[in-house]
Amino acid sequence: MSFSSKPLILRLASFLLLLSIASAAHRPAALVAPVTKDPSTLQYITRLHQRTPLVSVDLAIDLGGRHLWVDCDSGYTSSTYRPTPCRSALCSLAGANSCSRCFSSSRPGCNNNTCGVFPENPFTSTSTSGELAEDVLALSSTDGSNPGALASDPSFLFSCAPAFLTKGLAAGASGIAGLGRTRVAPPSQLAAHFSFRRRFALCLPSTSRGTGVLFFGNSRYRLLPDIDASQILIYTPLLTNPVSTAGTSVSGEPSAEYFIGVKGIRVGEKAIALNKTLLEINRKTGIGGTKISTAVPYTALETSIYNALTAEFALALSHVKRVPAVAPFRLCFEEKGISPTRVGPSVPAIDLVLQRDDVYWRIFGANSMVEAKTGVLCLGFVDAGKSPRTAIVVGGLQLEDNLVTFDLAYSRVGFSSTLFFRRTTCSNFNFTSTA
Ligand SMILES: *[C@@H]1O[C@H](CO)[C@@H](O)[C@H](O)[C@H]1NC(C)=O
Ligand SMILES: *[C@@H]1O[C@H](CO)[C@@H](O)[C@H](O)[C@H]1NC(C)=O
Ligand SMILES: *[C@@H]1O[C@H](CO)[C@@H](O)[C@H](O)[C@H]1NC(C)=O
Repeated sequence: MSFSSKPLILRLASFLLLLSIASAAHRPAALVAPVTKDPSTLQYITRLHQRTPLVSVDLAIDLGGRHLWVDCDSGYTSSTYRPTPCRSALCSLAGANSCSRCFSSSRPGCNNNTCGVFPENPFTSTSTSGELAEDVLALSSTDGSNPGALASDPSFLFSCAPAFLTKGLAAGASGIAGLGRTRVAPPSQLAAHFSFRRRFALCLPSTSRGTGVLFFGNSRYRLLPDIDASQILIYTPLLTNPVSTAGTSVSGEPSAEYFIGVKGIRVGEKAIALNKTLLEINRKTGIGGTKISTAVPYTALETSIYNALTAEFALALSHVKRVPAVAPFRLCFEEKGISPTRVGPSVPAIDLVLQRDDVYWRIFGANSMVEAKTGVLCLGFVDAGKSPRTAIVVGGLQLEDNLVTFDLAYSRVGFSSTLFFRRTTCSNFNFTSTA
């Protein structure tokens, strides 16, 4: 072999390698990523693969976030990083039109005449400007039962944020996977690249020992022992809030968050009196309504709704000894007065009543009670104050061990209620790879 032919052979070898990756993962029906719960911040973290050569990146999940961003200040190296020029089609796809400059040496996140977007950290309510860019993103393909070969999108759009934006994220997380309703968030970008339906599913683990699962695409969602969670869903329409709920936005930009139509709340099948105006999205101001969020650990309710819920819940559990509250909760009980069941502590179910009285998201003890300290169980909802932007924010505890699907193509949200009834959990996806 002559010296000069070596690079050609190398190039041929890597070309063949690329070909084999592409054919093994040709048009996967769906993709899958693990989800863990960080014990100190209670954030949900997913792991994706990015750059060339590929590295794994841990990102906090922000269900309503507008795009994926990573910290590019802390050692981002990749031979395939490409900043997005301003005034380009990709820049308008991201809803942006500003042109960024950078007065330091050129590197990922710092280039001239690039498309500037606004990465946001919802846990600290901070946002800043960042450079829009493309690079390789890879996830495991799946048949819905196991992870298979890695499938990659060579030109995935994300933003490069400064290191300070990761302040407040779980240790090890280098950015945010924003899964919101935009053209550039992973659900739409991956669906466009792999030609699958714009649908994804989130199954959050309830402990930091388990591994939950995030699916993109339309497949079965199989959990051990042999439950196809895609078959047990109840659907409700996905609503659009015409006014952005993000930290920074341009006028006329709709919210990228997932709103559903809660019409009422029942405690132990008894409806509680609520101010219905709060439950509606005001089409002019964007105030009111109900959204689903992974940015809060517990469902947050506007004060009058919170007070009505806790009053009814306290009444229904009046036979159990109350104990002093443990912040941030206000209604706490002696644990020994409440017996355990398969679906958590035996307390009245809380129903979020949706489009009709017989369509409701039922929340059992496992998703309503928190052991706030030894021997003390508290109602795991918090008071969001008198005038929050969104009256009901369904948060982490209430989503755990429920499979929730977001179908952008059909504008609907599907939910399973607790998987404990099916004798499974979100930590039961078989992550043994078949690749
Ligand atoms: C951007 O342009 C300015 C002025 O033209 C220059 O000083 C700066 O070094 C450039 N930055 C990069 C990253 O090339
Ligand atoms: C219901 O809520 C709306 C919006 O906050 C408020 O303007 C109205 O006064 C409330 N109605 C009652 C009866 O409290
Ligand atoms: C998990 O998947 C692997 C690979 O398909 C299989 O061999 C194994 O039996 C599965 N585990 C269980 C508990 O079903």
